[in-house]
Amino acid sequence: MNFFAGKLAVVTGGGSGMGRELVIQLAVAGCSVATCDVNAASAAETAVLAQAGGPGGVLVTGHTCDVSDEAQVLRFRDELLAQHASEHVDVVFSNAGIGGGESFVTSRREDWERTFATDWWGVYYCARAFLPLLIASGDGVLVNTSSVNGFWATLGPGIPNNAYCAAKFAVKGFSEALIEDLRTHAPQVRVAVVMPGHIGTDIVANSRRARGLPEPELMTETELRDLIPARMWPEGASADQVRQLLVRSNADFRDKAPVTAAQAATIILDGVRSGAWRILVGEDAKTLDWLVRAKPEAAYDYAELGRMGAAQAPPAPEPEPAPEP
Ligand SMILES: NC(=O)c1ccc[n+]([C@@H]2O[C@H](COP(=O)([O-])OP(=O)(O)OC[C@H]3O[C@@H](n4cnc5c(N)ncnc54)[C@H](O)[C@@H]3O)[C@@H](O)[C@H]2O)c1
Repeated sequence: MNFFAGKLAVVTGGGSGMGRELVIQLAVAGCSVATCDVNAASAAETAVLAQAGGPGGVLVTGHTCDVSDEAQVLRFRDELLAQHASEHVDVVFSNAGIGGGESFVTSRREDWERTFATDWWGVYYCARAFLPLLIASGDGVLVNTSSVNGFWATLGPGIPNNAYCAAKFAVKGFSEALIEDLRTHAPQVRVAVVMPGHIGTDIVANSRRARGLPEPELMTETELRDLIPARMWPEGASADQVRQLLVRSNADFRDKAPVTAAQAATIILDGVRSGAWRILVGEDAKTLDWLVRAKPEAAYDYAELGRMGAAQAPPAPEPEPAPEP
């Protein structure tokens, strides 16, 4: 029988990208889903899309919730239990996330803390709120989304990613620490940590929106200069050219990625189904994971990483563990 059929899943950040695709694919697999997003309209739209694609008996509900606010997470929990007439949940995907707060030195403190609050405290509050309900399921899975930035704390030369990396390392550490904790204290629940590489989504634009900025076409020059560090502002470019560049960079991030959001969701669901606790998404994630583990002290020596990558192909992936009985 399909692993997800007849179950109830929770997906945070379901209004876009991987979250939306997870909701749609779960519904197709016969799983009821409660999804939330800080953007109310997008969560509602996902629920309608997924409900239309799911078989009879599946219920998909959309909820408004900012996962960085514990009171909202608890309200989301109570709302979904009432709407699904359930006293437990079976799978929780803590997927909501944003970028921002790139530099601890120069970024605004509020931007750093917003990103950390969403990407770390959001995962923590959801674990607090939903663990008792996963235990009540008798066969629960907590799936926390980290990133390659959960084991490699940079985006490359001159591109720090401080708040995001700090949060994603925390998500990875917390999830790994839960393995033995759950084995010892709540063996009816297992945990998985998802580490995607570059996936084609609107995360760049959504992270700007989370910061309260208007769409690039409507941004003032002051907002543009505040967003883009002076050293990254293309030489001689006008504000209008930079506005166009922002639109293009989001489109390129989404459309030129090696893995689509739908493909990523399939990889994540296959990983959960197989019983894996460590789900790397994309060849870039697998290569980076191998490079960093092969020689940790070279992780931030980009020239050495490049030489290692060129000199040796990563080993074949380890076989997936057999599904839990
Ligand atoms: N896209 C990538 O390349 C990539 C790589 C590694 C990890 N990730 C992680 O994958 C997850 C999904 O990202 P995505 O690329 O699908 O992005 P996305 O922007 O397409 O989707 C994220 C969703 O989360 C929502 N969200 C943001 N802040 C929220 C909050 N405080 N409360 C509730 N919802 C909130 C957004 O509105 C959006 O709908 C994130 O945790 C992200 O950090 C993405």
